[in-house]
Amino acid sequence: MKICKSLEDLTMFQAQVRGLERTLALIPTMGALHEGHLDLMRKAKLDGHICLATIFVNPMQFAAHEDLEIYPKTFDEDVKKLRSVGVEGVFAPTNDLMYPKGESTRVNIGELGQKWEGMDRPHFFEGVATIVAKLLIIGKADTAYFGEKDFQQLQIIKKLTKDLLISTKIIGCSTRRDPDGLALSSRNTYLTSEERKIAPYLQSEMITARDRIISGQEIDSVLKGAKENLKNLGFSLISYLAYVDAETMTKQDALIKKGFGRLIAAATLGSTRLIDNLAI
Ligand code: PAJ
Repeated sequence: MKICKSLEDLTMFQAQVRGLERTLALIPTMGALHEGHLDLMRKAKLDGHICLATIFVNPMQFAAHEDLEIYPKTFDEDVKKLRSVGVEGVFAPTNDLMYPKGESTRVNIGELGQKWEGMDRPHFFEGVATIVAKLLIIGKADTAYFGEKDFQQLQIIKKLTKDLLISTKIIGCSTRRDPDGLALSSRNTYLTSEERKIAPYLQSEMITARDRIISGQEIDSVLKGAKENLKNLGFSLISYLAYVDAETMTKQDALIKKGFGRLIAAATLGSTRLIDNLAI
């Protein structure tokens, strides 16, 4: 496995891939890899691509009060995990490489980036969209893989790729969960053992809400009930629990065609903010 730290390393790696006449898949991450990340790599391999994972904790997507300083950094273990699933290349740039002195260009996605996650974290999606655009441009990959776990992020990446005429095809991959239903996340390590027991209720309440909505119950009251349950179970703040159009992320008051709707949620447990989503 080739570890690329500079643009020159990356160019050499890309030339080798071209020489082999193989297609390249880019899989961006912030490291602290878990099985959810590795599923993206496995899927890309199954689809026949040479895999280039990226590891970069992007400072621009963290607000000043967020967890940039303590975000888990486990580079050596990440490299071992990537090797174990057969990833061929890793791009691990420095901050200076991704944000050269004096740079100021930003990718602002507009309305889609202002709702839901964007309400609570106003600069988040500009940070994500800017770094993902840079990675797609320098990655020169045929395809790029992202998780449905971060559902709004996935829609934003699909939109920015389309809007900026970037030809890399974006593939969404299903969410990897622990057996009790909790979606894997690098931030789950912040949960205390007590909070870890409560965390899976976020998904189970969403499953119950989905079933009630499908059975014809009124959406607003179903979601209101689910929010109350989550509060009673120990979540301190439910930022949102909403039924939305899966592409535009606009709130829906009535059931839409199967596969086009999504339940999305963000809720805080102790000091950890969890997000999750579910297809309807
Ligand atoms: P990170 O949180 O490290 O996630 C990297 C990729 O793994 C994202 O596409 C994310 O949706 C996916 N992922 C995370 N948990 C998953 C799970 N349980 N199952 C399946 N996929 C999962 O998301 C980011 O990094 C950053 O915002 C990034 C896109 C790299 C830009 O900095």
